[in-house]
Amino acid sequence: MFKEETLRRFRTIRTPFYYYDMDLLGETLSSCSKEAGRYGYGLHYALKANSNTEILSRISKSGFGADCVSGNEIRAAINNGFHPGGIMFSGVGKSDEEIRLALELKIESINVESRQEMEVINELAGAMGVTADISLRIIPNVDAQTHRYITTGLEENKFGILPWEFDEVLEKLKTLAHLRLKGLHFHIGSQITDLDVFKSLCHRVNEINAWFISNRVNAEIINVGGGLGIDYGDPERYPVPDFFSYFRIFKNFIELQGNQQLHFEPGRAIVGQSGSLIAKVLFVKKGVATRFAIIDAGMNDLIRPALYQSYHKIENLTSREATEKYDVVGPICESSDCFGKSVTLPKTSRNDLLAIRSAGAYGQTMSSGYNLRDLAGTVYSDVE
Ligand code: LLP
Repeated sequence: MFKEETLRRFRTIRTPFYYYDMDLLGETLSSCSKEAGRYGYGLHYALKANSNTEILSRISKSGFGADCVSGNEIRAAINNGFHPGGIMFSGVGKSDEEIRLALELKIESINVESRQEMEVINELAGAMGVTADISLRIIPNVDAQTHRYITTGLEENKFGILPWEFDEVLEKLKTLAHLRLKGLHFHIGSQITDLDVFKSLCHRVNEINAWFISNRVNAEIINVGGGLGIDYGDPERYPVPDFFSYFRIFKNFIELQGNQQLHFEPGRAIVGQSGSLIAKVLFVKKGVATRFAIIDAGMNDLIRPALYQSYHKIENLTSREATEKYDVVGPICESSDCFGKSVTLPKTSRNDLLAIRSAGAYGQTMSSGYNLRDLAGTVYSDVE
């Protein structure tokens, strides 16, 4: 995957750093837009996956709207070319300042996650003399069959409004003069690889949409969130996710009224495969039952393996020798600071460069300065 000239470039850059293949990002964006475009579906990129300036401006230029979950994400979206009128704002705990910002900027929709939040938005909008466009974030009770930490559409999760609250919500809405109900919003989880899960989501959305229609609420926007997974096991096999099959499921199973538009909020599927975390081997140490390759990237740079036990393919970019097995670990004083156990790599030595693949989504955005470490650098394939 990495060309010789790219490797030569890597040798000159201080590690660890995130490397983004901007050609692959471009291809992914074109494929997603093309497949969604067949059916006129709306796309909002979920900034939480990766909010680097270069990446956001590339995505906004491709005509995407934005899905934001904080005031700062809304600002980052606007600073990087997204139109306020194409921004959705979700989140179970929006502060008053964040709600006011969304109202001032007249974003497309504030996705409301509780009855109390509806009242607060109404009050703030009233005080500002504006009407808030809102969507109701609904818990559809569809199991995303993914890691429990990234499952969001079940009754026990904290997100959204439950179906047995609908009557009360509609009653309440009638009394809230500064709200306009624009959409219904669903997001059931992330890294979903079984496309049948989306079929189940469609069936549930149809039932819920029909209930609202029978209660004389015809939402303009039906937003089914994000969640499409990527191939962590073999990033070269499908570097661009199968957007064709993904959108076709919705085309085949979702039932919309003539005025209703279907919207999506992909994050991982857009940026995941474009990014790799590049690190240098500091030491190779023999343990009792294993050999450790100790690298200069840690769980503060990429927390996914420690937090979700997630797999990321690891490659040695500089050795061609016979393979051996290594536990690839970082320098942080926690045993969870491990990127992979028993990883088969060509014989690995001090100063070799390793790539931790499929790290473009939820890598850099979730990094921290734990242990007072410097943040990893950022390198784009198309910026010298
Ligand atoms: N829309 C909403 C309302 C969301 O909460 C999310 C992700 C998305 C869209 C985008 O989902 P995606 O297409 O990326 O699956 N840190 C975790 C993932 C957390 C996802 C949170 N919500 C990880 O590293 O796997």
